[in-house]
Amino acid sequence: LIQGDLVFRAFPDEETYLRINTPLQGCDVIILDSLDRPNQKLLPLLFFAKTAKEMGAKQVGLVTPYLAYMRQDKQFNPGEAVSSNYFAELMSHYFDWLVTVDPHCHRHRSLQEIYTIPTSVAHAAECIAEWIKMKIDHPVLIGPDRESEQWVAEVAKAAAAPYLILEKTRHGDRNVDISIPQLQTYRDHTPVLVDDIISTAQTMIETIKHLHAAKMQAPVCVGIHAVFAGDAYRALDAAGAGQIITCNTIAHATNKIDVSTIIINILKSYVSMRRE
Ligand code: R5P
Repeated sequence: LIQGDLVFRAFPDEETYLRINTPLQGCDVIILDSLDRPNQKLLPLLFFAKTAKEMGAKQVGLVTPYLAYMRQDKQFNPGEAVSSNYFAELMSHYFDWLVTVDPHCHRHRSLQEIYTIPTSVAHAAECIAEWIKMKIDHPVLIGPDRESEQWVAEVAKAAAAPYLILEKTRHGDRNVDISIPQLQTYRDHTPVLVDDIISTAQTMIETIKHLHAAKMQAPVCVGIHAVFAGDAYRALDAAGAGQIITCNTIAHATNKIDVSTIIINILKSYVSMRRE
């Protein structure tokens, strides 16, 4: 693999200037770009893919440790954009393949339901379980909603720890209700909240309030993707999180769990497939 070189800057009117300095004729090109705050990244990314193809790249693949626009996966009200589908259509047009880490698959059960290019998903569960085994005594894992069970159950199994799944009702972007069954059974455990995305952090904040009311210890909050919208990180810290820990799919001070190996393993299989 060679590392390419590009120049990318904004013109004074904020349009994007992009120049790829590495010859790409006949190359398989991989671009690494995590897609949190996607709107500001998208046009430059698409310009890159188009330029690479025009320079003769055989394939342009996208490695995006955090895949954006997976949550609006249904039209809840007439006239709403089902942005997960439109985003998938757009990315499938510009890229030849895509690799990501634990995308938010809920009503779309897999990426292949909406992406028309080959996609591969790396799972952070083993990495999170290893961290929990090394750092936390007597954990009980807690998933804030039914969707989280897919991640929490896998982490709990790998960490040989018990887990609970809560009932969540979301009334709005920042308005979430949580209910917690059977907490008393786990009074002497360290609660470890596990979720895929921490965005406004309201899901975790509401859960912490219930744990506090049940006189549980301050929980360790583990998120795969550290989106942290606005002042969410500060709010979560102020709400009484014991520790806030994330995977390094989006750069943030809380990144303590390295998932680069699981991405590299997938890339190795792509590279060897291309050689065969
Ligand atoms: C939603 O279903 C996800 O799994 C997360 O629970 C959600 O994205 C967290 O969002 P927030 O931090 O805004 O509560």
